[in-house]
Amino acid sequence: MAEQISVSHISNYAGREATIKGWVYNRTDKGKLVFLLVRDGSGFLQCVAFKGDLPPDVFEKVMRLPQESSVIITGPVREDKRAPGIPGGYELGVREIEILQEAGLDYPMSLKDHGPDFALDHRHLWIRKKSQWAILKVRVKVMSAVREYLDGQGFFNLDTPILTPAAAEGTTTLFETPYFDEGFAYLAQTGQLYNEANIFSFGKVYCFGPTFRAEKSKTRRHLTEFWMLEPDPAFCDLEGLMEVEEGLITHIVQSVLRDCEAELKHLGREVSKLKAVTAPFPRMTYDEAAKYLIELGKGETDPERKELLKFEWGMDFGAPHEVELTKLNDKPLFIYGYPSAVKAFYMEPWPGRPEVCKSVDLLAPEGYGEICGGSERVSDHEALLNRIRKEGLPEESFKWYLDLRKYGSVPHSGFGMGVERVVTWLCGIEHIREAIPFPRTIKRVYP
Ligand code: 4AD
Ligand code: MG
Repeated sequence: MAEQISVSHISNYAGREATIKGWVYNRTDKGKLVFLLVRDGSGFLQCVAFKGDLPPDVFEKVMRLPQESSVIITGPVREDKRAPGIPGGYELGVREIEILQEAGLDYPMSLKDHGPDFALDHRHLWIRKKSQWAILKVRVKVMSAVREYLDGQGFFNLDTPILTPAAAEGTTTLFETPYFDEGFAYLAQTGQLYNEANIFSFGKVYCFGPTFRAEKSKTRRHLTEFWMLEPDPAFCDLEGLMEVEEGLITHIVQSVLRDCEAELKHLGREVSKLKAVTAPFPRMTYDEAAKYLIELGKGETDPERKELLKFEWGMDFGAPHEVELTKLNDKPLFIYGYPSAVKAFYMEPWPGRPEVCKSVDLLAPEGYGEICGGSERVSDHEALLNRIRKEGLPEESFKWYLDLRKYGSVPHSGFGMGVERVVTWLCGIEHIREAIPFPRTIKRVYP
């Protein structure tokens, strides 16, 4: 009996018999030869059926085998540099083939290109496509690299609730749901506040899960449901936080470069750009960034762009501003010390400059913009209470959060990394919706 193998391990089997189980991705006929490109989830493999090797009725069927038919194929593995596939360079001779199902001839996602709406309506089938598979493989790697890095650095993964009693990142982006006799609950915009409770039991923690924002933004960087990684170390200031971010991001990039070479190649990603992502990352204050943008706007002659780049101290960066800032470097860029007014209530004020807070965003290069947002947290009880009152937040809901500043408060910091933003950047794609299996945007909850 031939061994059943994964296509990704094909190089270990040259010269031997093997069995693969998968789906026909493409078929080309050359008279007595039929080439089937078969995918099994781990990769894509060229399988070659020769008329003389198979009973006539079987060869007939193979010649007409529709895209997406499910098959089990056994035969000899041969090394052949020309063989297409992922990883490629090997092919499987079809000595035996079992057709589990001949797919319907009306498969909607043929290999030609489709418009974005059509593709998104057929996302359940679109994810089978090579480009989508490659992007999602990178996502899988990012997820595992995150855990590998943080677990190795002594962080503990403690999950935080999705149903929560109050807003943490501003009240305008909350999804509300009726909640029995309690009134309403809200889908979590962040796990951060619960992380902050967990650090007083575990020291260094992270949560990693789905996050919800009812943002009315239709940009190519916003989802209403996305996955956020949030590390929160105790005894950590803003400087220490930036070092954690640098370590994590470089580890993710290295892991993807090492293990997703074929996927990046298929996506046409310029890997030299990713190889440039090494620590330390450049740093810039918000003040410096604001000054740069104001000057840039002054020098702009095109009235339309001038309007787009308009900036004054105190504003948050819009996408066009971030794009300009990312042009300054080949590496991700830290921008820190934002005006408190554009950031969340829990951020520690800058010593001697209460209008500024100890916040930091990390902008990915090549115009991708914000991938991480974080800060040092207010650790003083009175100061935090004042912030909550000033923002008009429901004090009752934050009673437990205030408790954390009463019993052994320490300086602590944390950040959130949007998984899909990182995947979009690493894959060099246009739109965030391809970086998650089933995207949710303000216009889409199907399929
Ligand atoms: O900057 P944000 O809003 O920060 C927080 O939620 C903090 N509580 C995190 C923390 O300090 N623990 O979000 C963090 C990151 C952003 O940098 C971005 O990468 C991603 O989450 N993100 C989104 N990704 C996709 N779609 C959206 N609508 C996103 N909003 C934020
Ligand atoms: Mg942010």
